[in-house]
Amino acid sequence: MSELPRWFELGVRVPVGWCELVAEALGAKFAHGVAFGAPSLASEPLPEGVELVRVYAADGRGARELAASAREVLDGLAAATEAPELAGLDVAVRELPPEDFARSWEKRWKPFRIGRLAIVPPGSKRPLRAGDRPLFLEPGGAVGTGRHTTTRSCLRALQRRIRGGERVLDAGAGNGVLAVAAVLCGARSAVAFDNDPHALPYAEKLAADNGVAEACDLRAGGFEVLAEHERAFDAVFANIYADLIQRYSPELASRLAPGGWFVFSGCHRDHRSATEAAILAAGLAIEQRASTGRWDTYAGRRVR
Ligand SMILES: C[S@@+](CC[C@H](N)C(=O)[O-])C[C@H]1O[C@@H](n2cnc3c(N)ncnc32)[C@H](O)[C@@H]1O
Repeated sequence: MSELPRWFELGVRVPVGWCELVAEALGAKFAHGVAFGAPSLASEPLPEGVELVRVYAADGRGARELAASAREVLDGLAAATEAPELAGLDVAVRELPPEDFARSWEKRWKPFRIGRLAIVPPGSKRPLRAGDRPLFLEPGGAVGTGRHTTTRSCLRALQRRIRGGERVLDAGAGNGVLAVAAVLCGARSAVAFDNDPHALPYAEKLAADNGVAEACDLRAGGFEVLAEHERAFDAVFANIYADLIQRYSPELASRLAPGGWFVFSGCHRDHRSATEAAILAAGLAIEQRASTGRWDTYAGRRVR
């Protein structure tokens, strides 16, 4: 009988915004699964601005050799990006007993919290903190786990601004997480669309799992799915790439009521000046820019 492999978890504390890059680099080297965040909602909270990247590796070598090999990858990444945020990251390695491994990598998507939203799998009976709002999200699927830096940044921004009763528009909705979160946080209704034909069933399931299907009008397609008269939204979200924000800012602004607010993300910082110019030219005021790693998220209002 062949010997069972030894399994290890490599944990790296990474400044928020750089997690995907670190996960990609370590995942490419060890290629057995990556997870973000603390292992459970009950775990010791991480310091502000820091995220935990956990990588799973089966290896015949010991923890010390794995840690050295992971450090080499991280040093290479820091050198290639010249990002000070990635310099000197440390790796903690622990060997997993087989049953621990099965729990931590086969179910590698873990609940996480953004503001008062606790993002948990459907049917979860996990005890939450007082004041938490559960958002039930099925892990997996091609259109998002809700964990991407830009999604989290939008979820944070929209929770800060929502007052209750809003009609919101979510352009490039993916799995509909922003629209559903907005309704859970008090918005009256959401129109959400995405031109990826695979996205709609995920968004429909998310809305149903969260009991907000009736408030969510989910559509497959691009901006053409909006009728001419569908305007005066109280809030507009668009977590799409910088070039699309630049192209669609006038359209997005025209769908907002005067004074209505927006959250735009997915904007690579290399395109910052062109993106900001396009947003301002569309008659929107930028009230906040949150930068996490390579990504900028903008929030503000329609001023004309
Ligand atoms: C980064 S994902 C964001 C998904 C989700 N809103 C979130 O925040 O996690 C961007 C989404 O925009 C969609 N998209 C890109 N261009 C679009 C367009 N012109 N019309 C509609 N959807 C578009 C993509 O298919 C993709 O699902």
